[in-house]
Amino acid sequence: FLVDKGNHRHFMLKEIYEQPEVVARTAAHYLDMSAGKVRLPADLPFDWAKLPRISIAACGTAYLAGLTAKYWFERFARIQVDIDIASEFRYRETPMVPGGLMIVVSQSGETADTLASLRYAKENGQHVMAVVNVPTSTIARESHIVMPTLAGPEIGVASTKAFTCQLTVLASIAIAAGKARGFINDVDEDRLVRAMMEAPRFMNEALKLEPAIAQLAKSLSKVRDVLYLGRGTSYPIAMEGALKLKELSYIHAEGYAAGELKHGPIALIDEEMPVIVIAPFDHIYEKTVSNMQEVAARGGQIILVTDAKGAEHAEVKTIATIVVPDVPATIAPIVYSVPIQLIAYHTAVEMGTDVDQPRNLAKSVTVE
Ligand code: G6P
Repeated sequence: FLVDKGNHRHFMLKEIYEQPEVVARTAAHYLDMSAGKVRLPADLPFDWAKLPRISIAACGTAYLAGLTAKYWFERFARIQVDIDIASEFRYRETPMVPGGLMIVVSQSGETADTLASLRYAKENGQHVMAVVNVPTSTIARESHIVMPTLAGPEIGVASTKAFTCQLTVLASIAIAAGKARGFINDVDEDRLVRAMMEAPRFMNEALKLEPAIAQLAKSLSKVRDVLYLGRGTSYPIAMEGALKLKELSYIHAEGYAAGELKHGPIALIDEEMPVIVIAPFDHIYEKTVSNMQEVAARGGQIILVTDAKGAEHAEVKTIATIVVPDVPATIAPIVYSVPIQLIAYHTAVEMGTDVDQPRNLAKSVTVE
């Protein structure tokens, strides 16, 4: 398989720019746009309505896609979800109610801990569903149900397009589960499907933020630590932002649930500390505003990633506000992935690190 960088300086940047296209392709595979319906395989070996529980296990960025999906499954399908880091799950001897659903998420389909989690779940009577980018992989082969992400080959070690495709597939599954369990009606399904189909257009809009983000990266490249905050589905996106930044630029970064600020990270805040807040104007925006006020009161340097309404209601001084298009809440994690990837990418480029091959990291971790 020969893949080149095209006109892009790095594979990672090429893959960031491919996202509207591959997310559209993935969405088209799972959603029937004209009917406004989700289209999952008809022969699932279980009944959503009778499912006792969902467990999710994955590593790295795929884990953060799973964490986002927990919010969707609980909201849309009112089903309890356990989400685990695969290396923890596999050794914890977790009791599992037979007949449950285990979802493993993996780009490569070869991650050792994720594979071991899959095998454990199978031995414990779970239906195993893989959201996987390599259809010929071990994880795909050993799973009962394969839900492919159609991201195409991902070369950059830091996952980008595979992540947004994982989110697209997981959101589609959560909507289908909600419909089957009677918590989503036809009108809601139609509205959600339409929202999902719009994600690529909004991602294209978000890509236009690149020059502003490249400018911001000049100052970010000079700092020692960065804190990322978010609530709801923006919490896993904050963690993903921090993960990307540390992987690529080697700047220490942490992603926190904004509500946990008072329980620790607030002690770190001073004039030197940039705090990147991921906060679309949603039902919990107001709560995040109070967290920003706490940061501002301690001289913290706020970088706010929000939409026009959020920018208008921020009520604090920021050093930069990145204004993302106003999007339906369900697709916010997909669209907000673009600016956080670009922040990490450009900060790394400023630092002169090897973006496509960061030190000590491997694309696929096939050993423990
Ligand atoms: C490595 C990669 C990450 C990836 C993780 C899980 O750490 O650098 O980008 O998210 O493995 O890999 P998987 O192939 O299972 O998604």
